[in-house]
Amino acid sequence: MSVKIIQPTSNLRGEIQIPGDKSISHRSIMFGSIALGTTEVTHFLEGADCLSTIDCFRKMGVNIEQLPDRILVHGKGLHGLTAPNETLNVGNSGTTTRLMSGILAGQDFTSVMSGDDSLNSRPMRRIMTPLNSMGAHITSIHNNNCAPLKVEPGTLHGINYQSPVASAQVKSAILLAGLYADGETFVTEPALSRNHTELMLKSFGADVSSLLHTDGTATAYIKPCQELYAQQIQVPGDISSAAYFIAAGLLVPGSELLIQNVGINPTRAGILKVCQDMGADITYLNEKNAGGEPTADLLVRYSHLHGTTIEGSIIPTLIDEIPIIAVMAACAEGTTIIKDAAELKVKETNRIDTTTKNLQAMGGNIIPTDDGMIIEGGVPLHGVTIQSHLDHRIAMVFSIAALIATDETQINDSQCVDVSYPEFYTTLERLR
Ligand code: S3P
Repeated sequence: MSVKIIQPTSNLRGEIQIPGDKSISHRSIMFGSIALGTTEVTHFLEGADCLSTIDCFRKMGVNIEQLPDRILVHGKGLHGLTAPNETLNVGNSGTTTRLMSGILAGQDFTSVMSGDDSLNSRPMRRIMTPLNSMGAHITSIHNNNCAPLKVEPGTLHGINYQSPVASAQVKSAILLAGLYADGETFVTEPALSRNHTELMLKSFGADVSSLLHTDGTATAYIKPCQELYAQQIQVPGDISSAAYFIAAGLLVPGSELLIQNVGINPTRAGILKVCQDMGADITYLNEKNAGGEPTADLLVRYSHLHGTTIEGSIIPTLIDEIPIIAVMAACAEGTTIIKDAAELKVKETNRIDTTTKNLQAMGGNIIPTDDGMIIEGGVPLHGVTIQSHLDHRIAMVFSIAALIATDETQINDSQCVDVSYPEFYTTLERLR
């Protein structure tokens, strides 16, 4: 087991380059693999999850070159993948599993996907139900609605699917299968989830669009497609990774951090709205746009935060940031209430559980609820041993909490940060 010891600190100063966005990096490999031509990807995230996606597509005959400054995906076209001769190892990655299911459903060969213990216990019925109703043949090998999943050839039809969850992974799986269907496909979700698939598929030439309804629900639409065409993709910095350093800058007394090139797509940037509501001092600089994905440099200064309520349609735009928001709330004045976030229970760990237990162990006043948590701020945190339970986000969240604890903190299984942010501890050390 790898362990990190973190000492409290003050005055974090400096500039940080955030690694590439995980969601966009996955999609660049997947869409590049099923496009015609060579897709060039810069600022790709070489974290374990995205490397799982590369490995899976290589096993289906795609030549993917990892050069020092870019990735080249030599696409095979929509119908050019070949049968893998072993199980596709999806590692810890829900995005790989669920999005790839949509692509595999349209192939004329059989494949099997399996991952680690965490991945193989996450719910997959949410993609099996809509994809199978399109005509796919996806079965859970142990009959428990989890991976390993077997995908056999089927003839796909367009559907009009009402998704019970606002999930970009579910939406994307259906849209990708829709590329291979014999009619139009619609997916309506209870609130708009991240829209990277829609933006990127459109740039690859797909006929895809989306509509936000007045009641807050959202519908994405795709037409079947003859071929996709290779693109150049500049991956923006991952706001989910920036979130740890945004929190560090706001919470550690005397800090001022310039966090560069952060993706601020509105379907991802809910944490920035919450920071603003909590009274954070964050200035946006150097705003740009690449491939429909807006970015900015964020100048973050130590701030006196106050509690807030987070609920409803903002939740999908900050779902991965709720554990770090809980730490911010624990240091803020007053009460923070987080509701409508039951999806946290089916992430790499049950993050309602892993966040509240670890924060309570540090002395935080937090109680779990059925769909979120309630945090009473202003109680000093103290150092303890944190169990990451091999959840990358939990390891990083409590490494940041450790900076403001009264004494040292030990993070167990700290190497799991490699899933989304391999250089996290090097960056943290450099700032101290
Ligand atoms: C992701 C979607 C979200 C998010 C995950 C990445 C994606 O999951 O939590 O880290 O890349 O589409 P859900 O679709 O389950 O909400």
